[in-house]
Amino acid sequence: MSDKTIAFIGTGNMSYAIIGGMVKKGFAASNIIATNRNQEKLAKVAADFGVNTTSDNNAALRDADVIVLSVKPQMMGDLCKSFQDSGVDLSDKLFISVAAGLTVKRLREMLGQDVKMIRCMPNTPSLLGRGVSGLFGDGETADEHAFVQQVFECTGIAVWVEKESQINDIIAVTGSSPAYFFLFMEAIEEKAKALGFSDEDARRLVQQTALGAAEMAVSQPDISISQLRANVTSKGGTTHAAVEHLKAQGLTGTVADAMDACIARAEQMEQEL
Ligand SMILES: NC(=O)c1ccc[n+]([C@@H]2O[C@H](COP(=O)([O-])OP(=O)(O)OC[C@H]3O[C@@H](n4cnc5c(N)ncnc54)[C@H](OP(=O)(O)O)[C@@H]3O)[C@@H](O)[C@H]2O)c1
Repeated sequence: MSDKTIAFIGTGNMSYAIIGGMVKKGFAASNIIATNRNQEKLAKVAADFGVNTTSDNNAALRDADVIVLSVKPQMMGDLCKSFQDSGVDLSDKLFISVAAGLTVKRLREMLGQDVKMIRCMPNTPSLLGRGVSGLFGDGETADEHAFVQQVFECTGIAVWVEKESQINDIIAVTGSSPAYFFLFMEAIEEKAKALGFSDEDARRLVQQTALGAAEMAVSQPDISISQLRANVTSKGGTTHAAVEHLKAQGLTGTVADAMDACIARAEQMEQEL
């Protein structure tokens, strides 16, 4: 594993998940620094993973090669300004932002110089090690690129995009999509209850089926999703009746339109922040 030192500025849910994944995958805890203004959160991450902790962001900035900016987007301006004023040389540091809606250009303006910058868009299942992280880099070396890939593979899979605008596409495809799946599960659960299943059974039935379907897709990568669906949809059978109804109601187009709405909102948020 790399001997780079990495500092997580703002160790909340997302940083905690990434740090946990890194330590589990063999990154040296001694090369990881976690900061927070809340001592209890620091005590927990130190106890759970044995990493270095400090409430002094500037000390972490000075000591690390890679700086993960992991505070809420609205707090990023103040944080970056404090780094600008810290007197620490930022020119050779690699910054990674996991904040939604803040472009590389905007982050560099906040930091006051054209630093090496990675934008990362993780999704919520990253908290369980089942995530997807979309990555866009500008100015990083090949070695740093490989390091960032390793870091985000600790919470699931990591996919690089070539153009920064594609980060908004990633939001539509993986960032927001756990909610699309939940909505579908919710609809099945609701109907199961209407059919007379208890709340507990309806929940268990839908979640186990979703898990089974996902496992079938993951365990058979050579079979297209479309073929997997066809394999369980005999012509004239019960599943066929249901699937044809969903298609006739325009499910595919509705999902595409929903994803376009998601991208449009992400673009709008970039203007607001
Ligand atoms: N959670 C997700 O699934 C997810 C997915 C995609 C992207 N993200 C992005 O990841 C970033 C972090 O999200 P999160 O869910 O981990 O948020 P979070 O749990 O609120 O973590 C941020 C932590 O940083 C602390 N903090 C704020 N300003 C600080 C400062 N100046 N110095 C030190 N610590 C500071 C906060 O303390 P206080 O509690 O005192 O405010 C909080 O504990 C956000 O930009 C979010 O948009 C998260």
